[in-house]
Amino acid sequence: MYPDKNSTSAKLFERACQFMPGGNSRIAVYQAPYPIFIAEAKGARVKDVDGVERTDFINNQSALVHGHCFAPIVDAVSKQLHLGVSFSGPTQAEIELGQYMTGRVSSVERIRFTNSGSEAVMFAIKAARAYTGRYKIAKCEGAYHGSYDFVEISRGSGPATWGPRENPEKVPYTKGTPPTVSENTVVFPYNDVALAEALLTPEAANLAAIIVEPVSNRTGMIPGRAAFFDFLRRFSQQHGILLIYDEIISFRVGFGGAQERFPAPDLSTFGKVIGGGFPVGAVGGSKDVMEVFDQTKGSPAVPHTGTFNANPVSMVAGLAALTAFDQGQVAMLNQRGAAIRGEIGKIFAELGIEGQASGTGSLFRIHFRNNELTDHRSAYPTKPQEAAVQSLQREYTNRGIMVSANCSGNVSTAITEADIDQFLTTTRAALKAVQDGRAAG
Ligand SMILES: Cc1ncc(COP(=O)(O)O)c(C=O)c1O
Repeated sequence: MYPDKNSTSAKLFERACQFMPGGNSRIAVYQAPYPIFIAEAKGARVKDVDGVERTDFINNQSALVHGHCFAPIVDAVSKQLHLGVSFSGPTQAEIELGQYMTGRVSSVERIRFTNSGSEAVMFAIKAARAYTGRYKIAKCEGAYHGSYDFVEISRGSGPATWGPRENPEKVPYTKGTPPTVSENTVVFPYNDVALAEALLTPEAANLAAIIVEPVSNRTGMIPGRAAFFDFLRRFSQQHGILLIYDEIISFRVGFGGAQERFPAPDLSTFGKVIGGGFPVGAVGGSKDVMEVFDQTKGSPAVPHTGTFNANPVSMVAGLAALTAFDQGQVAMLNQRGAAIRGEIGKIFAELGIEGQASGTGSLFRIHFRNNELTDHRSAYPTKPQEAAVQSLQREYTNRGIMVSANCSGNVSTAITEADIDQFLTTTRAALKAVQDGRAAG
């Protein structure tokens, strides 16, 4: 059950609020009236501070592809802890993961590591600016690429603010964002070649980069259309713009990332799974573009700093995670993700509820709408749909399953067939409760 007012979670949150605004340091983990504090986890199971165990379909927003305490990661990190955790000097661990990534992702000839996906995106954009000598960037409406100002534009746009689809408003996300940030960002809808072309063309000569996700996270992990990616590649090449794929979530859907399905980008950003659960990010791409970071010939075009960049703990954890996430494991998780989406669709149909599970590979999201999901607007929930999603999420929580606040989730290698059966049985009961208006508020 959701912890009650006398629970340890409630008390910890009260205490947390005395020291931190909002009681934490990460908006995504807050839930009203108080978040569920975690005590420990192993494999697919997470135990909260009140001793309640749940099966984890969040896996720290998809970062933990092997679930919790995966033995090879624990071993690699334990060994590293005894050797030292960060130094003012490079380590071989960085080379190992760097070499591994360049072998695994064909568009990545060179790579550099950061501490988060947000930083990776920021440095990819800086690299594109330095390389092209231009400073504007283009991104898809509604897309989340982390917390760098320019990619935050339109991230939180909704019906009240988004304006006409043919010319989306550039809605700043953080109060106080300088107007120049919007002025230097072009926003276009995902998966729509005609509108992308119409919106990008007038700015083509000013654009340093187009950043796009091969799988659109905010719309429900839906796959990009081949024609859209073919267009973006052709257009960017034609106009000297760098094409950046944000693979921070989508990397796990293909051995070489989701980009295997599309023309190669100039740069890619990575995070989450490539750190095995430890803080990480990376920017990689062609040797030619990545030269902007090279500090061996004097001050580089893009000085890349960061006290914890490529720290050996994240590097060894990432290598352990990725070497165990081989072609077979990728295929297995993708097959399980597809099965979950298919079964959820059947449950909606059987119960006569309007809804679907969208997604790609091992990623899924549940929506209370039936229309085809192609972009931000087509997936944006109405108020009743949003309320239903919230009720469903609370039902899952009460019934021992963890999914994200927007009812998205993912499968880790720690999830068994039995866990999936439990998930689907729970989905049926939880949806029935939402349908009958019995859902917990
Ligand atoms: C597509 C995408 N880009 C960037 C980020 C930012 O990564 P981080 O949270 O590591 O800063 C995320 C995080 O969820 C993401 O999903």
